[in-house]
Amino acid sequence: MCGIVGYIGDKKAFPILIGGLKRLEYRGYDSAGVALLNGSLENYKKKGKVSDLEAFVAGKADDGTIGIGHTRWATHGEPSDKNAHPHVSMNGHFSIVHNGIIENYAQLKRDLETHGYTFASDTDTEVLANLIEYFYLQDDEMSSEAAVQLALSKVVGAYGIAVLCKKETEKIVVARKGSPLVVGLGSGEYFIASDASPIAEYTNQVIYLNDEDIAILQKDGFTLSNVQNTPVSLKISNIDMEIGAMDKGDYDYFMLKEIHEQPKTIEETFRGRLQNDYSEIVLGGLLNVFPKIEAAKRIVIIGCGTSWHAGLIAEYLFEEYAQVSVEVEYASEFRYRKPVLSSDDVVILISQSGETADTLAALELAKSKGATVIGICNVVGSTLSRETEAGVYTHAGVEIGVASTKAFTAQVTVLTMIALKLAKRKGTISNDDYKMLVKELAEIPEKGRAILSDGEKIKAIAEKYHEAVNALYLGRGYLFPVALEGALKLKEISYIHAEGYAAGEMKHGPIALVDNNLPVVVVAPQDDYYEKVVSNIQEVKARKGNVIAIVTEGDKGLKEMVNDIIEIPKSHPAVAPLLAVIPLQLMAYHIALLKGCNVDQPRNLAKSVTVE
Ligand code: AGP
Repeated sequence: MCGIVGYIGDKKAFPILIGGLKRLEYRGYDSAGVALLNGSLENYKKKGKVSDLEAFVAGKADDGTIGIGHTRWATHGEPSDKNAHPHVSMNGHFSIVHNGIIENYAQLKRDLETHGYTFASDTDTEVLANLIEYFYLQDDEMSSEAAVQLALSKVVGAYGIAVLCKKETEKIVVARKGSPLVVGLGSGEYFIASDASPIAEYTNQVIYLNDEDIAILQKDGFTLSNVQNTPVSLKISNIDMEIGAMDKGDYDYFMLKEIHEQPKTIEETFRGRLQNDYSEIVLGGLLNVFPKIEAAKRIVIIGCGTSWHAGLIAEYLFEEYAQVSVEVEYASEFRYRKPVLSSDDVVILISQSGETADTLAALELAKSKGATVIGICNVVGSTLSRETEAGVYTHAGVEIGVASTKAFTAQVTVLTMIALKLAKRKGTISNDDYKMLVKELAEIPEKGRAILSDGEKIKAIAEKYHEAVNALYLGRGYLFPVALEGALKLKEISYIHAEGYAAGEMKHGPIALVDNNLPVVVVAPQDDYYEKVVSNIQEVKARKGNVIAIVTEGDKGLKEMVNDIIEIPKSHPAVAPLLAVIPLQLMAYHIALLKGCNVDQPRNLAKSVTVE
């Protein structure tokens, strides 16, 4: 949930650290800080955004070619100057930045207090800083990396850390377990970051650290070892991240840019995969496991938040077209249950970041049960992509906005391709229907462009309802998960309480909520459920509810019945989610703006939930 950066080389470290922290601010933004080695070990940190830190340090940290930095999402200890990272050990030997949670920090803190250590903050990270120093001071010959290794061997929990030692002025020690860390390889310089985005502008050669790796970075080279002193495999990867992708361009917010990118990103998602006039779906990353997917009697789909919603859509697709039983699970629930899984099962884990702690824990549990594990992920080289035996990258490009939009439609596009490919392989779909559905999928980008060109209408509707305190989102079938997703978008960026519900469930309770203060968004394109959804709309209207309906363009019937209409192009129901979600994304965006919320960095949230 936090962002870590580091630099060692011949350039001034501070501007590189600040630039990197700005690229990582979507991971956490309640406080920030840097530590610089320039003859002495200098620490600057404060509550607030990276730009606040930049102003605070300006002129004080002009030299120094070695440094580490951190932007925080608070776990232990409230957002404040004292709880901001870096944390300095009691005797000033070490400065450390950390992403993760040290679960046994309280015991370690008590042990250190018996050795005379005192603490200036409420964080688990400061405990680790003092623990490293404690080992370091036990032996005059002790190196900083040896002290780090000894300290980490006592730690229970997740960490991604970068450590500076006052006496070892030409070195950064980094280590990871459970929280991602990437090392960028420059010429005579090295970069560290929680993901590749801050590194891409300096080098395309990176090493993704694995759990329990320790790297010692010095200007003339680096060494890779392991907390358990077991051999470490060195794998250098290439990243091909466009810098432009990480700028807002002409948009006010990343979220708006990413909503508008969706026609293009959906095209990127199926580029090279829809082949030979749509007669073939090629998913190279599943080649070695597709026979197991075909043979599976059950597919378990696991994810969190928006990724879980994508899994719910896949459930309808896989069952209707591939006729395979599907279960969709919240990772945070699945990981603590005693699920009945075997090698006959295929588990698909969906994660934009590929670093969500709950999803990674669910992955380990599924692997331990012998299931075939497949990852659907947007971040190349992320832990999920490296720990699963097969998978599909969504190719949505870097998604900076905390509220997931283009990654969601990319996930649904991938899942649709898998379901259709599986149905064709199993012969549970006619060749005509298969080609028709693939063609329907291929036409989505153009239809999405049509919706996006009509954004003003959606903005006007947002103006009508932006002062609502509650909202209800309804849908049936493929559009039920879209209702859930629309509600999540609204609540996470505008802080309005919004609930998504299966429209058929209204009569079992939620209809009691309906009055003339309640906006009810109903996703009601032409499909097999249409008549039933119209009845649900009538039930809401009969109780003075305000209905905003997402309908198939040209639907005159509903126009007279509801308060507001948003039309989307006609499509097959199986691909309608890819269109119906766009107006809901835009409506949430405009309402949040009207409420003065920070759309890209909503309160209490972070983009990548790497802690549980
Ligand atoms: C989506 O808008 C939210 N930011 C959140 O629910 C997110 O989908 C969830 O945390 C899962 O993230 P992941 O896809 O990176 O695993």
